[in-house]
Amino acid sequence: MEANDSLVIKAPKKSPLLPRLVVLAFAMVCGVYICFICLKQINTNNGGSTTSNKFLDVKVVRQLCNSSGIEQWEIPLVHYPNPVTFSREECVCNPVRYFAILSMQRSGSGWFETLMNSHINVSSNGEIFGKKDRRANVTAIVNVLDRVYNLDWFSSASKNECNAAVGFKWMLNQGVLEHHEGIVDYFNRNGVHAIFLFRRNLIRRLISVLANSYDKSKKPLNGTHKSHVHSVAEAKVLAKYKPSLNASTLLAELKSVDSRAARAIGYFKSTRHIVLYYEDVVGNRTVSENNKPVYHLLSS
Ligand SMILES: *[C@@H]1O[C@H](CO)[C@@H](O)[C@H](O)[C@H]1NC(C)=O
Ligand SMILES: *[C@@H]1O[C@H](CO)[C@@H](O)[C@H](O)[C@H]1NC(C)=O
Ligand SMILES: *[C@@H]1O[C@H](CO)[C@@H](O)[C@H](O)[C@H]1NC(C)=O
Ligand SMILES: *[C@@H]1O[C@H](CO)[C@@H](O)[C@H](O)[C@H]1NC(C)=O
Ligand SMILES: *[C@@H]1O[C@H](CO)[C@@H](O)[C@H](O)[C@H]1NC(C)=O
Ligand SMILES: *[C@@H]1O[C@H](CO)[C@@H](O)[C@H](O)[C@H]1NC(C)=O
Repeated sequence: MEANDSLVIKAPKKSPLLPRLVVLAFAMVCGVYICFICLKQINTNNGGSTTSNKFLDVKVVRQLCNSSGIEQWEIPLVHYPNPVTFSREECVCNPVRYFAILSMQRSGSGWFETLMNSHINVSSNGEIFGKKDRRANVTAIVNVLDRVYNLDWFSSASKNECNAAVGFKWMLNQGVLEHHEGIVDYFNRNGVHAIFLFRRNLIRRLISVLANSYDKSKKPLNGTHKSHVHSVAEAKVLAKYKPSLNASTLLAELKSVDSRAARAIGYFKSTRHIVLYYEDVVGNRTVSENNKPVYHLLSS
């Protein structure tokens, strides 16, 4: 009987023990988690790359800047970067647009970039993903993009604190197609404007590719390789070389270039983008004299 009593009494005593243990375990897990978060923050603060801090700073600057002149729909597309490497000074509240010129070799992107950079407030930083380690994986790509768009990337094209548009050119064979998911996601999250630049005449492009690779190996201009000539005399020297095309593979080659461009446009269709053709831009005085691409970028 006694045993029965003690059982009856013990039973209610035992049951609160389980919830207590659960609460204790929960508190421990919470404690460990909080410590972990603290350590992580201390680490990022000491480690130089103060991503979370930068994020806060950007938000603070953004709140201080008056966006009243900017259309509501455009607000996600304009940014107020807060560079780590210099101060934007009086232009801290000048909105900055992000762009990327997506192109292929020998399609006029060098010329196009010069056209963009001729605007005082535009900085296009060149072919920065030419180096393989910068495009090894999405993490590496995002690191580079963050630096470019935070105005912390220095190249011969980078300008001053009053930049209104910043970007670079990116060849499709430099990781754009392989890592398209991560890149499209980045572009959408950060309002990056994709400018596709292709060449309509793909045979001319192919001839240029062959001539350029000949120049790379033979270097007829006094032993220097020039991807782009800067005088008529230089152009005449390079034009002496007449590449020959292999007719049996030509069609397949042109088709594969064409489909690569189509694939890229397909991948990026959810981003804000525009498709331009070199022939239309270079042959069109109204476009190049009024710097239409820049106009489009900065005001539409
Ligand atoms: C923003 O600028 C507009 C004029 O451009 C002005 O009317 C408005 O009061 C300003 N707002 C703030 C919060 O400064
Ligand atoms: C990404 O690539 C960089 C540079 O090559 C490398 O250091 C890093 O370990 C890679 N990260 C991942 C997650 O593969
Ligand atoms: C362009 O740059 C100039 C000075 O370099 C600056 O005064 C001007 O505000 C900038 N324009 C824009 C739209 O940021
Ligand atoms: C090549 O060398 C010649 C003679 O030395 C010179 O006149 C010419 O300008 C040089 N061309 C280039 C592209 O450097
Ligand atoms: C053209 O390409 C085909 C297929 O690759 C090859 O068999 C042939 O030798 C090439 N012809 C020339 C002249 O290079
Ligand atoms: C030149 O550009 C203008 C404006 O974009 C366009 O209306 C016109 O059709 C273009 N002309 C040619 C020949 O491409």
